[in-house]
Amino acid sequence: MGLRSHEQLVVCVGVMFLLTVCITAFFFLPSGGADLYFREENSVHVRDVLIREEIRRKEQDELRRKAEEANPIPIPKPEIGASDDAEGRRIFVKQMIKFAWDGYRKYAWGENELRPNSRSGHSSSIFGYGKTGATIIDAIDTLYLVGLKEEYKEARDWIADFDFKTSAKGDLSVFETNIRFTGGLLSAFALTGDKMFLKKAEDVATILLPAFETPSGIPNSLIDAQTGRSKTYSWASGKAILSEYGSIQLEFDYLSNLTGNPVFAQKADKIRDVLTAMEKPEGLYPIYITMDNPPRWGQHLFSMGAMADSWYEYLLKQWIATGKKDDRTKREYEEAIFAMEKRMLFKSEQSNLWYFAKMNGNRMEHSFEHLACFSGGMVVLHAMNEKNKTISDHYMTLGKEIGHTCHESYARSTTGIGPESFQFTSSVEAKTERRQDSYYILRPEVVETWFYLWRATKDEKYRQWAWDHVQNLEEYCKGTAGYSGIRNVYESSPEQDDVQQSFLFAELFKYLYLIFSEDNILPLDQWVFNTEAHPFRIRH
Ligand SMILES: *[C@@H]1O[C@H](CO)[C@@H](O)[C@H](O)[C@H]1NC(C)=O
Ligand SMILES: *[C@@H]1O[C@H](CO)[C@@H](O)[C@H](O)[C@H]1NC(C)=O
Repeated sequence: MGLRSHEQLVVCVGVMFLLTVCITAFFFLPSGGADLYFREENSVHVRDVLIREEIRRKEQDELRRKAEEANPIPIPKPEIGASDDAEGRRIFVKQMIKFAWDGYRKYAWGENELRPNSRSGHSSSIFGYGKTGATIIDAIDTLYLVGLKEEYKEARDWIADFDFKTSAKGDLSVFETNIRFTGGLLSAFALTGDKMFLKKAEDVATILLPAFETPSGIPNSLIDAQTGRSKTYSWASGKAILSEYGSIQLEFDYLSNLTGNPVFAQKADKIRDVLTAMEKPEGLYPIYITMDNPPRWGQHLFSMGAMADSWYEYLLKQWIATGKKDDRTKREYEEAIFAMEKRMLFKSEQSNLWYFAKMNGNRMEHSFEHLACFSGGMVVLHAMNEKNKTISDHYMTLGKEIGHTCHESYARSTTGIGPESFQFTSSVEAKTERRQDSYYILRPEVVETWFYLWRATKDEKYRQWAWDHVQNLEEYCKGTAGYSGIRNVYESSPEQDDVQQSFLFAELFKYLYLIFSEDNILPLDQWVFNTEAHPFRIRH
């Protein structure tokens, strides 16, 4: 069918118009919250975020290209004096921290995160859309700890001038704001004694308080810092999430203890009381809970990984943080882990690798997430604090086995770095055949578990595994001005995702630095780490 030229013109204009509408729509669609963290449950939303980020990145790349043509920037290379002993390795990690920090400072100062290759700012929906310096607040305790004094001072001065209330825009994740911002500031106070940090921590937590004004006291997931309006995620059908409402207590309790203002501890205690009163199916805690009073469990979905993980971690650590006097917390932790071992712990057929499966009703999904690898460190920390030798030995064994399984997920990939999630089937063990699970975003949980195992056993292999990871980070994750995630750990030249996550500083760098340090740097009988690896002092 032939079209005459003026008809072609009309069609052409029509197509252009539709395209413009589509592109504009992507920019103005509401974001609705949540990070890549909620991969499966939230795929539509994630795709939406990814598309918008893709467009933004293309624009930034274009701007950068133009700037570079005008004024090329030399690629800095840190000096590397890698020696084989722990001290040399510790210094090497410190140099990595400096390199990553310098890139952030130069190209993204005050932004939430850095795009190390585009050399520009980055943010994700968990931070809303304000410029809230997440990297500065997440990194400051690490800068202090490793002795980057000038960098620490500059970060401290930025925080002293920073007002979270006026800077935060849009919907913030209550959970992420608590563990990164409140946690980071509390930790900076605990390490330095500088009261300014405590005041800022209280400011941030105060902004979160309206999210707890719900019928049962279970907090909403998102809060608008300006209006105080809070809500659940649109994709969670009006329910709250275990790992989120269950990972408030360490920060809020510590904050109340340090400030003498009881309101924070009361909010955290209320959540615990609500959960204690609920019937647990076979002793297990489902991921979703309704916002009614009293609340009801949602779908019977159970996991040691995303959306559940730090609930278990905080039960154990709350018991430790309060000087092991809180028997209820200890009992609830033990009962929860015991129930999970009974129903969800498996050993793979070919290589005898131990892992926690996921459970939906009675249906098992034999996959284990990078996030769930934290559980090795958790049970080792329990073992180190447990008087009963039978129980202690049992959890030491479990911790070693999980540390080993997670190492296998690293060792069985092309880059030596483990994927986001891996499966156990008749054809693969500790690997993934799913393209969408093959990425690595600088997550710390595997090194975290090796860190606890190193402290508990002094077996050199844990230091060696950590050092292997350092070298793989250098080879695959190092970008022009910082470190980046990679899109596929099974490729020999993986594409980088161009995001330097704030938790790289708070968690991965800190655990790497500590594993090559003496035990008297943050001894585990005096310090407890929040789920973002911010250390708090144990109250004996
Ligand atoms: C903080 O904790 C310590 C140790 O448990 C306790 O002695 C002190 O009274 C607490 N302070 C407040 C304000 O709760
Ligand atoms: C230690 O725990 C085991 C297993 O729960 C129990 O059978 C044993 O009696 C406990 N031992 C002591 C000394 O309490």
